[in-house]
This record gives sequence, structure tokens and C-alpha cells, in this order.
Amino acid sequence: MRIYKTKDYNEMSRKAANIISAQVIMKPDAVLGLATGSTPLGAYRQLIDWYKKGDLDFSETRSVNLDEYKGLAPSDPQSYAYFMQENFFRHINIKPENTNIPNGLETDENLECRRYNSVIKQLGGIDIQLLGIGNNAHIGFNEPGEAFEKETHCVRLTEDTIQANSRFFSSMDEVPRYAYSTGIKNIMQARNILLIASGTAKAQALYRSLFGPITPLVPASILQLHSNVSIVADEEALSLILEKGLL
Ligand code: F6R
Repeated sequence: MRIYKTKDYNEMSRKAANIISAQVIMKPDAVLGLATGSTPLGAYRQLIDWYKKGDLDFSETRSVNLDEYKGLAPSDPQSYAYFMQENFFRHINIKPENTNIPNGLETDENLECRRYNSVIKQLGGIDIQLLGIGNNAHIGFNEPGEAFEKETHCVRLTEDTIQANSRFFSSMDEVPRYAYSTGIKNIMQARNILLIASGTAKAQALYRSLFGPITPLVPASILQLHSNVSIVADEEALSLILEKGLL
């Protein structure tokens, strides 16, 4: 595991974008595992900027997103499909047919989970999986206590996550209670993993994930067992680790 310490969010974003762009340059048809949330926004902005300058080409790149709220249509501004369009896809030359996100409108959970797993398999697996981390150390929507063996599944969100995500909605009641998420097994099968974190709210989760026991109670702790993980985190997110002299 490599840990890159950055001074702040902007430097974290640039470093993460550098790692992703290296992947796209080395393998133009790379399969990018993508995430939503606040943390990757800066990295997406940086990649868009490099694309606009002519330094990056996404015409052959494929993508699979980690998750989607169940019940939301892609046209819903709160959906992750909408988020990806607005914050990344519509600004670059990735082909819409090469992007994949779980279908929030599919009510048959088994069908959608099976479909999404087979999409990932047909793409030949994920070359680099970008991850944020929840305050409770969730990755994707894999909440504490879920089995590490899971592939794509339908998750009931925890109160912690509903609370954290309510900042994007006008009220807590509007936050969907269920989501489709790729599982820890899908994430661990990615050839490379890039986890990004910024801010003191992530310090505890990051410390427990990287230096604590490997347990489903701390979902990101499983990453300690992956052979190709890069962590890019700012000083605030690493504060507990730095304080303990572990880095
Ligand atoms: C997003 C996702 C989540 C977020 C996590 C952190 O697709 O799967 O695991 O990465 O909740 O969210 P932010 O970046 O908003 O703090």
C-alpha cells in the first residue's frame, strides 16, 4: 500500500487525477471504476481540464460506477447517474454507451445485481477503482457489518450514511433508504485501487481502515489485503495517523 500525503484538497485532487490519467494514457480502453460524492469532484475537474487541453482522450475508455440510489431515475438531479453526467461525462469524450451505472429504476433486485456483475465481468474487470470513504469507513455503499464476499447487492443505508448524504437533499426524508452497490468482492477484484480522502471528518475512518484490524465492521480495512492500493489523502484526513507517528 502506498500512502501519498498531500497538503490539502486541491493537491489531493491533482495527485488522484494524475494517477487516473496515467492509467488512461497507458491503456486507452481502460475500465475505470468511478465514485460519486464530494471527494472526487476536484479530481474530475482536473481530468476535464487536461482533456480540454488535449492531454487526455477518453474515446476508448470504459467506466463502471460503484453505486446508485434505488428508486431514482438518471434524470433525477439527486441520482448518481445525473451526478456523473454533470460533473464528468458530459465534459469529456467518453462514449455514453461505454459508461455503466446500476439502474436505480430496476425494482427486481436480483435481476439488477446479476446484470451489473455480468457487465463488470464482460468488461474484463476494473483496471483502477476510485474510492471515497465514508465517515464510518464504508466504501461504495458497503456499510459496516456487511460480508466481505458480496458482489453487487441492494443495501439498506445506515442512519449515519443517510444523515451524511442528506446534505445533498432538501430534507432527510428525501434521502432514499436503499441503494444498489458493487460489493467488496467486486472492489477487491479491481487490478488497482485508488482511495482518496480529505478533511478531519475522515481521520478516524482512515486510521482504523489502514492501521486497525481487518474486520467487516470497518469495511475499508479489507484494502490492507489488496496488493495494489494507493491512498491519496490530505494532512487533515491523515491527522490521526500522523499524530500516532505511523507515517
Ligand atoms: C460514492 C460512494 C461513497 C462515497 C463516500 C464518501 O459513490 O460510493 O462510498 O465515496 O460516502 O463520500 P464523500 O466523498 O461525499 O465524503
